[in-house]
Amino acid sequence: MGDLRDWLLRHKFEQYADAFEANDIDLDILPELTEDDLGKLGVSLGNRRRLMKAIAEHASDAGEAAPKPEPASSGEGERRQVTVMFSDLVGSTALSARMDPEDLREVIAVYQKCVASSVQRFGGFVAKYLGDGVLVYFGYPQAHEDDAERAVRAGLELIAAVGALKSSVSLRTRVGIATGLVVVGDLIGAGEAQERGIVGETPNLAARLQGIAEPNMVVIAEGTRRLLGNLFELEDLGAKDLKGIAGPVRAWAALRASTAEGRFEALHATGLTALVGREEELELLLRRWSRAKTGEGQVVLLSGEAGIGKSRLTAALLERLSGEPHTRLRYFCSPQHTDSALYPIISQMERAAGFAHDDTSQGRLHKLDAVLAQTSTSPEEAALFAEMLSLPNDGRYPALALTPVQRRQRTLEALTSQVAGLASQQPLLMIFEDAHWTDPTSLEAFGRTVDRIKTLPVLLIVTFRPEFNPPWVGQSRVTSVTLNRLGEREAEAIIARLVGNKELPADVMAEIVERTDGIPLFVEEMTKAVLEAEGEGEARRTVAAVPSPTLAVPASLHASLMARLDRLGPAKEVAQIGAAIGREFSHALLAAVARKPEAELSATLERLIAAGLLFRQGVPPHATYLFKHALVQDAAYGTLLREPRRALHARIAETLEGQFAEIAENQPELLARHCTEAGQIEKAAGLWGKAGQRSLARSALVEAVAQLTRALDQIVTLTATPALRREEIKLRVALLTPLMHVKGYAAPETKAAVERARLLIEQAEALGEPPEDPLLLFSVLYGFWVANYVAFNGDVARELAAQFLALAEKQGATVSLMMGHRLMGTSLLHTGDVAQGREHLDQAIALYDPAEHRPLAMRFGIDSGMAVLCYRAFALWLLGYPEAAFADADHALKDAREIGQAATLMHALTFTSWTLIHCGNYAAANALLDKLITLADEKGAPLWKALGMMNQGCVMALIGKAAEAVQIITSGITGWRSTGATAWTPFYLSYLARAHAEVGKFDDAWRCIQEAMTAVE
Ligand SMILES: Nc1ncnc2c1ncn2[C@@H]1O[C@H](COP(=O)(O)OP(=O)(O)O)[C@@H](O)[C@H]1O
Ligand SMILES: [Mg+2]
Repeated sequence: MGDLRDWLLRHKFEQYADAFEANDIDLDILPELTEDDLGKLGVSLGNRRRLMKAIAEHASDAGEAAPKPEPASSGEGERRQVTVMFSDLVGSTALSARMDPEDLREVIAVYQKCVASSVQRFGGFVAKYLGDGVLVYFGYPQAHEDDAERAVRAGLELIAAVGALKSSVSLRTRVGIATGLVVVGDLIGAGEAQERGIVGETPNLAARLQGIAEPNMVVIAEGTRRLLGNLFELEDLGAKDLKGIAGPVRAWAALRASTAEGRFEALHATGLTALVGREEELELLLRRWSRAKTGEGQVVLLSGEAGIGKSRLTAALLERLSGEPHTRLRYFCSPQHTDSALYPIISQMERAAGFAHDDTSQGRLHKLDAVLAQTSTSPEEAALFAEMLSLPNDGRYPALALTPVQRRQRTLEALTSQVAGLASQQPLLMIFEDAHWTDPTSLEAFGRTVDRIKTLPVLLIVTFRPEFNPPWVGQSRVTSVTLNRLGEREAEAIIARLVGNKELPADVMAEIVERTDGIPLFVEEMTKAVLEAEGEGEARRTVAAVPSPTLAVPASLHASLMARLDRLGPAKEVAQIGAAIGREFSHALLAAVARKPEAELSATLERLIAAGLLFRQGVPPHATYLFKHALVQDAAYGTLLREPRRALHARIAETLEGQFAEIAENQPELLARHCTEAGQIEKAAGLWGKAGQRSLARSALVEAVAQLTRALDQIVTLTATPALRREEIKLRVALLTPLMHVKGYAAPETKAAVERARLLIEQAEALGEPPEDPLLLFSVLYGFWVANYVAFNGDVARELAAQFLALAEKQGATVSLMMGHRLMGTSLLHTGDVAQGREHLDQAIALYDPAEHRPLAMRFGIDSGMAVLCYRAFALWLLGYPEAAFADADHALKDAREIGQAATLMHALTFTSWTLIHCGNYAAANALLDKLITLADEKGAPLWKALGMMNQGCVMALIGKAAEAVQIITSGITGWRSTGATAWTPFYLSYLARAHAEVGKFDDAWRCIQEAMTAVE
């Protein structure tokens, strides 16, 4: 009784000690006291509550300090299946020779304690210590359906834990695991020395397997392996002869938990509520799967509101298919990553490769290679994937000289060929979860997959909430399925399964059915909240606290969850931290943010997992956790008050930056989100900007628009400083590139954005803050103009030239005006307004000042004076002034030679030769073209080489060398098109037609003419 008195004293309830004593209450029955009992003892209402809380803590402390699972049966002999683990310290004999016996004893004690605590976390039972060996049972005295899995996880975990021990020598372990039928004998001895004897071959096998393990290796028997499915990556060690065991024995090394399908397994391991209803939907999925397997790829669009059971249904399909050979790929979108290009695809690949937080980038590349080797991926594709995963190319892949646009295209292509590669081996099941949160690039990737799988044995299931409209509705081989709410019977069935053999009054059950309105997630959560309530009174209060669904359904979830979290005590805080990180979070990040002792943290997480709120995947410290449902995460997050929430995000941001530099670097948008939530606006703005630029560099244009816009939204809320104004200008100009592509060159949004950027530049200048780069805006516009001119979008080029000129006129600087007239003149000339075009070109020449403007060639690619002369020559020839045309061409060539810049010279050679051809001077033209082609080859400039060849082909056609003309123009046009250019092709096609006709190939000639006419139209 002294113990209880102490306990009461510690909790400041000593006034009740006498009453407890008088009623023969001691520590042992403390956990069984109810609130009513306390009332009878005369404890006041407030103290009753406080006492109940203290008692609950006492109970769980006692449980953790001495987890003594009760035997499932009495001590009688009993046959049962048990998984036995034997772990041994490596080199203890050597240690005993080197160490003082007392020190050695200490080391071994630490080691044993560490093994015991690792094992207990997985529900194992330490049966015996044998010197430095530890014998552990899984499945006795307490059986779990997944004992084999628990044993292997415990083995992997204890190796890591022992390795991390801080002792004077570094410790390594060997683990052997075997599963089999044993006879469990009586209890032998008592107290500390108590031991439960197991008789059979299994313990011996485990010990022998331990003997053949390398240091820090888990070796398992065939019998254990059969129970594991594909939960772990295994290495076949072959057949072994073991002492005391008849015949050779197949042994396996368990390397690590496999992560490819981690989440389903994680779900599986904690046990889902058995599926209720949904027979028809499941039947339909199975039929689509059968059809897909015949090589007719299928898509199922599975929609339904949050918590209705979309994921549960796909899990049911996976369960049904577990017996047949197929490959699974699961992709999970996340509300925190809607702007992160390719997020679900990147994380799928990371899981497939099994990246761990502390892997080096070298190690990650090895893992990636191992995954890609399964589909004989080309080195170029591997390079693209490495880049997609933000891994540095350490020279193992070819260097890729691609523009962002090309890189994006090739990456998307490589992704579809991965799908095709996998599907060529065995049927493929792809699940794209929560597509309402997809980033635009992933959506595009899946769009390609939908097209590509038409003739492949692939079933793609896309799940999403009703607010999302997948673009594939109505296509052939695409089936839409909507999940509706469950009926009352079905809701009752879910409740009944959760209640098991506990009791639930009928009216409470009816209340739950009514208030949750057929949404299984709410049914589950509310039932659990009620079951966890202490006593019927509280159960009824819990039910009554839940608003009826006519209000807002998620509010009912929120209320149930609040109650559950409150009862979890300190676990609530951990749940909140996790929720602030995201639906999914790593153990490493959580631990760094939570700053709690590891043991306490693990116990807390264990409690959240046991309550079914979290799923775990992998083994700590490499584990990741996942909230059971996005709404559960939302609800946990919603319990945070504003100030603690802000502080928490600040802590997460700080931790990411300080300890997870790689995440901070590769996912600036993630860090930006935390800084935004932490109210660190300026920092957030910088990070959103960085994220936007990063997306731009990967040509993820829609994401870039979103991120840059967020950066700008943040900046405008701040008090302007010169630095911020400069930053804003940069961001506004950066935003133009994706806007032009996403919205269109002449879209009102784009025009407004250009105008906005110009205004800001002007305002900054008025404030005496000349921008770092006065031509910033103009060079962006110029880039667009060139692209559209070469790809020949005549109207767009004119529109852009007009914008450029208008801005230049407002700004009034000679440089931009000269450029503006050049662009306008060139655009008009090419769209048929030759005379008007010439006027602009005249003005450009008048404004051109060689001393001031020649250096601009570095900036705009070629010298503008030369370019204007080339085009004016063309205009003059068209207008009927061959002499003047000739003079301009000559002048241009002379200037270009003087300037000496290769691009300028190639431009001049191209257009001068053109004028010469038109004027009939073929020999001179040909000489220039020879020079052009040589120079282009030398400089690696396919565009100019193609122009040289096409021009040379024209000369050939004109001087009667038709066969040569056909050949050279054809390959010239191919080269030209491969650069994305289309301008002037009809013109060259006309020469090609002429050459074809000359050698009598009239069909080919007609084909060219038709092609040219179509292009012109
Ligand atoms: N038909 C069902 N039978 C039993 N439990 C279900 C059923 N449908 C859903 N659940 C449970 O409800 C919860 C929410 O379901 P989930 O599939 O995650 O919803 P969704 O993916 O549609 O948002 C899960 O815990 C799941 O196990
Ligand atoms: Mg879901």
